[in-house]
Amino acid sequence: MIAKKVETALINQIKLEEQSSRIYMAMASWCEVNGFPGAARFLYTHSDEERMHMTKLIKYVNDKGGYAVLQSLEMPDDKFQNLFDVFDKILKHEEFITESINELYEIAFKERDYTTSQFLQWYIEEQIEEESMFKGILDKFRLAGNQTGGLFHLDKELDALSVATPADGGNV
Ligand code: FEO
Repeated sequence: MIAKKVETALINQIKLEEQSSRIYMAMASWCEVNGFPGAARFLYTHSDEERMHMTKLIKYVNDKGGYAVLQSLEMPDDKFQNLFDVFDKILKHEEFITESINELYEIAFKERDYTTSQFLQWYIEEQIEEESMFKGILDKFRLAGNQTGGLFHLDKELDALSVATPADGGNV
């Protein structure tokens, strides 16, 4: 059985992962209509990854005898100044998610729920990877400046970073 406190914190994290998926889906849509097909493809794929993060948590809660009830979500941003603004907001969002995972880990640890603490290790490592990837992308933006050629090249690089997923049929 899972402690109520831990279950509630995990359910909150499920909401945040689902919200992340929506945020990146909204950003992908913005990129698509603003001439950044590579960034759009990258973000559609990333949105699917967040959905996977959510599903993994849902299954964990249910497997442990809890019940993962989905929560209502806020409407995501649909206006961005430029492509840099999109990725700047992603990094800030991921930093917020890292904090939330750390708090969740602390709750599980204080409840002496070592199984959940162990399970959360995967998320802790995932956050390190994601933050590092988005910091790297932002560094490249700074190097490219606002030059059209630089942004075009960056969009191509983001395209190459994407992996084909069943959700987009690999052909976004
Ligand atoms: Fe689910 Fe981007 O962390």
